[in-house]
Parts: sequence; structure tokens; C-alpha cells
Amino acid sequence: MSESAKTYRVIQWMTGDVGQVGVRHFAGSPVFDLVGVLVHSKDKVGKDAGEIAGIAPTGVVATNDIKEIVAMDADCVFYTPIIMDTETVCRLLRSGKNVVTTSGFFHPSPDFRDAGEAIRAACRDGGTSFHGGGIHPGYAGDILPLTLARVMSRIDTIQVYEVVNVLEDAPIDHIDWMGFGKDRDKFLTEPTILGLGLPFFAQSMYMIADGLGVTIDEVTAAEVDVATAVEDIPHDEGVIPAGTVAAQRHEWTGWVDGAPLIVFHAIYVTAGPDQLEPAWDWGKTRYEIVIEGDTPTELTLQGVRRADGTMTHPGYDWTAMGAINAIPDVCDAAPGWLTHLDLGLIRPRGLVRR
Ligand SMILES: NC(=O)c1ccc[n+]([C@@H]2O[C@H](COP(=O)([O-])OP(=O)(O)OC[C@H]3O[C@@H](n4cnc5c(N)ncnc54)[C@H](OP(=O)(O)O)[C@@H]3O)[C@@H](O)[C@H]2O)c1
Repeated sequence: MSESAKTYRVIQWMTGDVGQVGVRHFAGSPVFDLVGVLVHSKDKVGKDAGEIAGIAPTGVVATNDIKEIVAMDADCVFYTPIIMDTETVCRLLRSGKNVVTTSGFFHPSPDFRDAGEAIRAACRDGGTSFHGGGIHPGYAGDILPLTLARVMSRIDTIQVYEVVNVLEDAPIDHIDWMGFGKDRDKFLTEPTILGLGLPFFAQSMYMIADGLGVTIDEVTAAEVDVATAVEDIPHDEGVIPAGTVAAQRHEWTGWVDGAPLIVFHAIYVTAGPDQLEPAWDWGKTRYEIVIEGDTPTELTLQGVRRADGTMTHPGYDWTAMGAINAIPDVCDAAPGWLTHLDLGLIRPRGLVRR
């Protein structure tokens, strides 16, 4: 069978923001057959996956029975729970199904090296492969810098900016779980959800370093910086009170030979400069890669307004598709934990549908 005619049987594991993009894509793509859907929420059990994802019925009914899903015959599980469970992933791999995920392991950095051995063992036992992808980690802070590196003759530093206008471009639950509306001093003394995510983002730094053939000495985090609201900032579910945290900036640095090589900036704001103290002005939601060296090079990745004037930040679509487009190559590869460096340039299939 020619590669273009090949199809892959897939299971969608959980139907949150990312998983619903998966269901919609699998339902509309000639490359994938959706054969199973696992959900956690009781009210989704027994529903057609299409109803859950806001599209026409798919004929696949959601279950919360993990055993039923593990027993299914499929080429790949698109695994998108809130937190990756290594044992569950190993069980799926041993059951003969490849696993592609947005939820945890992207590259064997020191934090993931040992647990990665369990994954590799399960891949060997099941004759299967595992891959992690997404938008960041999994694309903007690793594939894009490495892709730009291809046209550089010297690299001094790589800066990666993730800027998110939360009220416009992120689900409303981000207000609460990211700690907006908290007292400034309380926010600065407590762990933050982004700060806790550093080991996950650091995997991208290790991937860049491996790709460039250098070794990261350590990854450090600067003090978190915040801006507060100068007035109440209303949103769909309440208000960020004046004087409380309304924007946050995290900076993480990967050091090589005692000097910063890779700097990640995570900037989440709920208002523009008129409503912030200090008057931060970070502009549009985007990823920006700035490479200092020879020749200095920049790249901006951002969503574009549709012809009908609507604009939704494609963060979750990019996250899901960054991983999903690798599924055919992952399924066709030899068994193992396949990082972007192992997969090389993947060949997204079924995207051109005239
Ligand atoms: N690398 C990247 O670029 C990137 C970007 C965004 C997100 N992510 C990761 O991708 C994964 C999915 O993100 P998401 O935004 O889709 O997540 P989400 O919407 O917050 O939740 C995913 C799903 O997990 C299930 N769930 C909820 N509570 C649960 C519980 N107590 N126990 C077990 N399952 C529970 C629910 O499934 P049902 O609704 O089906 O019941 C929920 O919809 C996360 O790990 C996230 O960190 C990665």
C-alpha cells in the first residue's frame, strides 16, 4: 500500500481542550480512523465523541472503562490527560499500541531520564513507540530554534518568548489556576503553576542542546516578576481586583560552559499597559524566537484572523496537531521513545484535502 493511502486506527484518551481537537481532526482526516474514546467526566460517558467535541456524530461512544480501551485493537493512542501517568502509558505500550502524547515526556532531560527507561522497556516489550509533541514544549521552544539554527553560522544565545493574553486567548480557568487576582506578596512566596512546570519546559532546552551538540550545565529560574492591576479588571467569571496580580513573567535559563545559551520567557498578561503597574506592554499572543549570533535571526509564530474576521488563538490546535501529525511516522518507526531528534523531519499526512 502506498504511504498516502495508509490509515491508522487511533484512540483518543481524554477529551479536554487538546483531546477535543484530536477527535475533530481524527473524524475529518482520511488518514485516521477513530476507534475508541476514553473520558474521565461521568457526564461524557455513553456520549458520541462527536457530540463531546462539537461536531457531527462519529459513531464512537465514549467510555470510562480503561480495561476496555487497553483491550482494543488500535495503532496509536493520542494520550492527553491532565497529567501523564507512566504506568498507564507503559500498559498501553505493552498492549501493542503506540502512544503519542502532549502530556509529559518530550525529551530525556535529567528529570525524565530514569522514568524514560520504564517507557523504553515497555516499548521493547510491546514492539511499540512513544512520542511527546505539542506547541511548547514540543515545537516553539525546540523544533523552531533547531530549524532556525540550520541557517546560522554561529549561535550566541537563543531567546524564546511565549506571550499569552489570557483574557483573549486562553480558557477562563487560567485566571484561577495561574493565580491571577492574588495578593502580590502571597503570589511571590507561593509555588506557581508555571514555575512547577519548569522541568517540562527544560526538556526543550536539553533537546536544543543535544541537537547543537553541546551540554547543559544547569537550568536556573530567575525571580518571578509580576505586574498588578491599577483598577478592577472584569472577566467572564468575575473580576481581578485592583492591586492584585494581573500579569506574570517567568524567566528560565539553560547554561552551557558557564554562560547563558537558551533563555525561555513565559509572559502571561490579563490587561494592557493602561491597566498594569508597571505598565507592561507585551503585545499580541505569540511565540517569538530571537537568536543572537551570526546572522542575528528572529521568527514570530502567531495566529491569523480568518476571512470572516474571527480570530481564535490556535494554541490548543497547534498543541494537538504538533503531536498528531507525527502519529503516522511514530507508528511506522522501529520501537522506542522517539524524540524529535529521532524522528527528524516528519511527513504530515492527509492535510491537503481538496
Ligand atoms: N506541550 C504543549 O504544548 C501543551 C499545551 C497545552 C496542554 N498540554 C498538556 O496536554 C494535556 C491536555 O491538556 P488539556 O488542556 O486538554 O487538559 P484539560 O482540558 O485540563 O483536561 C484534560 C482531561 O483530563 C480529564 N480529567 C479531568 N479531571 C480529571 C481527574 N481528576 N482525573 C483524571 N482525568 C481527569 C478530563 O477528561 P474528560 O473531559 O474526557 O472527562 C479532562 O477534560 C495536559 O497534560 C497539558 O499539560 C501541553
